[in-house]
Amino acid sequence: MIIYIRGKSMRETIPFNQGWSFRLEDEDTPRAVTLPHDWSVEYDLSEASPTGGGGGYAKAGVGIYETVISSGAADKIKGHEAYLQFEGVYMDSTVYYNGDAVASHKYGYTPFIVPLCDVSEGDVIRVRVDNSHQPNSRWYTGSGIYRNVSLVIHDGVHIVPWGIKCMTSRIYPERGSADLLISAEICAGEEDVTAGVYHEIYDAEGKCVSSSGIAIMLRDGEVGRCEVRPQIKSAHLWSDDDPYLYTLITRVKVSGEVIDEAVTKIGIRTATFDADRGFLLNGRSVKIKGMCLHHDSGLFGAASCREVWERRLSKLRDMGCNGIRCSHNPPDPLLLDLCDEMGFLVMDEAFDEWYLTKHKNNNYYSEGLSYGSGMFFDTDAESDLRLMIRRDYNHPSVVLWSIGNEIPEQSSADGADIVRFLQGICHEEDISRMVTCACDNIASGSTACAMREFENALDVVGYNYVGRWRERAETFYDEDRRLYPARRFCGSENPSAGGDRGVYRKNGPFGGYDTATLGHEALWRYTASRDFVAGDFLWTGIDYLGETRWPRRGAGCGAIDTAGFEKDSYYYFRSIWNSNDVTLHLLPHWNHAGSEGEFIRVVCYTNCDEAELFINGKSAGRRGLALPPRTGAVNNWYERSGVHATTNDLHLVWDIPYEAGELRAVGYKDEKEAAVTVLETVGDAVSLSAKAWHDEAAPGEIIQIEVEARDEAGRFTPLCGDEVQCVVTGPAEYIGMDSGDLSDLSKMNLPARKLHAGKLFCAVRCTGEGGICVKFTSEHLTPAVVKVIAGFHPAP
Ligand code: GAL
Repeated sequence: MIIYIRGKSMRETIPFNQGWSFRLEDEDTPRAVTLPHDWSVEYDLSEASPTGGGGGYAKAGVGIYETVISSGAADKIKGHEAYLQFEGVYMDSTVYYNGDAVASHKYGYTPFIVPLCDVSEGDVIRVRVDNSHQPNSRWYTGSGIYRNVSLVIHDGVHIVPWGIKCMTSRIYPERGSADLLISAEICAGEEDVTAGVYHEIYDAEGKCVSSSGIAIMLRDGEVGRCEVRPQIKSAHLWSDDDPYLYTLITRVKVSGEVIDEAVTKIGIRTATFDADRGFLLNGRSVKIKGMCLHHDSGLFGAASCREVWERRLSKLRDMGCNGIRCSHNPPDPLLLDLCDEMGFLVMDEAFDEWYLTKHKNNNYYSEGLSYGSGMFFDTDAESDLRLMIRRDYNHPSVVLWSIGNEIPEQSSADGADIVRFLQGICHEEDISRMVTCACDNIASGSTACAMREFENALDVVGYNYVGRWRERAETFYDEDRRLYPARRFCGSENPSAGGDRGVYRKNGPFGGYDTATLGHEALWRYTASRDFVAGDFLWTGIDYLGETRWPRRGAGCGAIDTAGFEKDSYYYFRSIWNSNDVTLHLLPHWNHAGSEGEFIRVVCYTNCDEAELFINGKSAGRRGLALPPRTGAVNNWYERSGVHATTNDLHLVWDIPYEAGELRAVGYKDEKEAAVTVLETVGDAVSLSAKAWHDEAAPGEIIQIEVEARDEAGRFTPLCGDEVQCVVTGPAEYIGMDSGDLSDLSKMNLPARKLHAGKLFCAVRCTGEGGICVKFTSEHLTPAVVKVIAGFHPAP
């Protein structure tokens, strides 16, 4: 807990999410909504929707939001200055104040500020959001004011929005200290003034570890910048496995009085990329085991919600993932807060297109006109890029800026100049971080092949799917390294494993149930054994809406489905990336009535040295993940070592003639039993079980519940697809349910939904204090009830 004395500063930042109304422009009646709000998830999907497969067949159009200034807000603002801060509105928004247009912002992913003047109670704020030009995205964007809005009140002399920047300029591992560079941008009020700018840094226990200050002379109406360079002794460094955060308090004083104050979370760390050693965090090589993420969160659409991302990211963290690529747009700031707290290494990406727009529904580059951010790249790209960097600068998790994804200009003559322009902006705003661009055509044999000048202009070259073009992706890194020894390499996008959770394709491409991880296994063996490759970001960590074909709502590329449930591939990644915990996972399920005697491929993902599989007590053999055995001599040439059957893959396989009963795997580490996993042929589902992610919630927070079907003996039933109804009582409102099944096209906010592969996810918003009861019923199953205590969290 941070303990510090708040100054008497006038600054107040008040959430401005309540009390809005919304309607589509072609609807008559507005309805009350709470922000963040995404209208696209509130309407039925339609094959005819102009958003198409790219946009997930969702509703778009023009939306109108309205709110009025309350007497409380008007009183607070009186005699001071104020602005509204919108974190993200998709897209092309215009803000009206009492009918006059006062601000507009096109890009749907960058924040913007609306200064408020002459504010009185009852004044009307209207936001018109135009998402009608479709299709304008290759993925689901959502529509509306889908991120938070705040009202900020301050005095004339004030810290400008995103005006505090703190970077670690150097760490001294032998002394344990670190040099920081803190800069502050202060705006003068209506007179010339001399202000004192003071910075205090508190550690996580609330102890002040540094205080520094500097005077700045400001001329009427101007913005001035001042810097201090404090040294932190015994600095506790931020890293992916120890994400330690400090709190920086900045105070602006005039004539001894605190006029303004800013609180910034910071982490002390250095992060860079090296041509020989890959990614260096605090001078140490760290392999990036990253996942790409789109910004939607299943049934919430694009609407921002911290709790939802907390659950999703903690699952990715448990999987051993330590990197997130915010593909392909500036993320929600809440996501970056979580990445700071959980220790993710973030590639923060600005654009999916520059001048040349992409075709939106089948992912080919477009010859002709297509809607999208490319249409306002010329006018807005510079300010959008600067906004992203200023906003995200202080997040220790952000280790790399990306200026684009699979940009068509990578193969055009002016591409390298645009790289230099955009990368130059990044360097101007931030001298501490390197810049990449995710290139997909590096190894292409076609005319679309990336220009070497384009690649060589980049600080770090991002490789997307080099393996699309030839047989072995990996060898291109080696070839390019021979040609360009100073090049820094990062896998910016490569295939994950994907597939539908709990659905097994018999006789798949590998002669049995699909082991979709094969492609990644080869890539990982390569990446893990080459120091110069910084790591990889895989497509994708979590399934996302859009980029699909009817009749599906989204793309199943993730290790986790849209409902936040782990797929089998999740355990594959966990087995190779999470070395702190034992993984021993078997697939498929063991309910195959009618297939008795047929060979079924049993796959095991494990980080045990070896595993033995038993079918109804009989051993099917012991397997290990070591490289193929060689019968080398032990002591004397004639003493041959005993070997077990092993594989060159990163998974184990047994082909078993199916018989109902029990499949048991026993994992061994150092010859000792380390884990046991059992799969059984279970009976029909007779009941539901349900568990909340957290059993307490504060008003406004989302309660997330995982529901499962179970048989008579209480065992999970992986084939149950029964419909479940949900009823909520107490201080809470129902939001929706999602099973992760991308072919279930029904609206996710309906109170009934089918389980998919035995599971369902439910979200409920806590609205007050007391006991909340969420009941799940189904025609043939005994109901399940979840109780949650709703109340106010103690003040921090
Ligand atoms: C990549 C692209 C992603 C997504 C993916 C689908 O080329 O960068 O946005 O479209 O393909 O496999």
